[in-house]
Amino acid sequence: MPIVVKGLSFAYGKGTPFEKKALDNISLTINDGEFVGIMGHTGSGKSTFIQHLNGLVKVQEGEVEVNGIKLTSAKRPKPDYKKLRATVGMVFQYPEYQLFDDTVIKDVSFGPKNMGYKREEAEEMARRALRLVGLDPDEVGEKAPFELSGGQKRRAAIAGVIVMKPQILVLDEPTAGLDPYGKEQILNLILRLKKECSPTVIVISHDMDEITRYASRLIVFGEGKVAFDMPMEQLFEHGRELEELGLETPTAVRLAAALKARGIDLGGGIVNMDTFTAAVLKKFAEKGAPVKEFSGIDWFGERAEGGGQGAAAPAQEAADDNGAADIFGEGL
Ligand SMILES: Nc1ncnc2c1ncn2[C@@H]1O[C@H](COP(=O)(O)OP(=O)(O)O)[C@@H](O)[C@H]1O
Ligand SMILES: [Mg+2]
Repeated sequence: MPIVVKGLSFAYGKGTPFEKKALDNISLTINDGEFVGIMGHTGSGKSTFIQHLNGLVKVQEGEVEVNGIKLTSAKRPKPDYKKLRATVGMVFQYPEYQLFDDTVIKDVSFGPKNMGYKREEAEEMARRALRLVGLDPDEVGEKAPFELSGGQKRRAAIAGVIVMKPQILVLDEPTAGLDPYGKEQILNLILRLKKECSPTVIVISHDMDEITRYASRLIVFGEGKVAFDMPMEQLFEHGRELEELGLETPTAVRLAAALKARGIDLGGGIVNMDTFTAAVLKKFAEKGAPVKEFSGIDWFGERAEGGGQGAAAPAQEAADDNGAADIFGEGL
């Protein structure tokens, strides 16, 4: 079931001299299976918005409905927050700071234990979650979180969220502070989680090049409002307005425009480097150049699967062939 938000407004310090409006009449629907990127300048309300989705921030005005769980400002009926938090997994910015227990396995099994699972069961769930994020539970399970490398910590923290197999996975700037290789790894992990565990993914990002490679839909926030929510190709025709909101159009879109101004029209549909490269290759093929089949750029030689709008079918099939089985199995 989708996420439906209607007329959501929110102010911090409401009724005090320090009142600060953070959300202003937000209405939108996010359907099952979407990969939504949320963009917007600092302070545009992105974090406040997503924190409404699992009840971390209480609704003041308007309403939020997540998989049939309705959140309003009314005290009664009290929403089922336990169910809500098992449905919406929230990964905060710098998730490594979410780790607090003395071993990784204890940390990752905290959620299920809290939900009432027995220790052995909860730890088995944690081991599966660790495997799913690419960590070996036998290797890291008994370690203290601080003994892990930066990348491992971030994965362990994500494991602690997906251990509940949330239908909806929300990540607030998951690649903040990582180098390009680390970013690519985390984004590929998110794609994998979308496929194997959490079909709906919402990611806050401030990197247009990055998000357009992964997301199937972009929502742009500005001053607490939804500034844009339209197909990417259309969105990038609003370059000037995006700039006014402190955002740039993707490099690929600007390159295509620069070429067009010089008489080389690559056609429509360019939103990222994958679609750009495909359009250039098509152009070469039309001119008779021997062009090999293209299924997306593999920047670091290890991209497991395609995603976003640029990925073509062959890459996806390859990923299906050697992709991991349902690691969660029947038991969850
Ligand atoms: N805990 C808080 N107390 C007071 N104001 C806040 C708090 N958190 C955020 N704000 C303000 O609310 C607005 C929206 O913030 P936020 O949702 O964090 O935006 P974003 O995630 O897009 O940077 C900003 O003006 C910010 O300063
Ligand atoms: Mg934020």
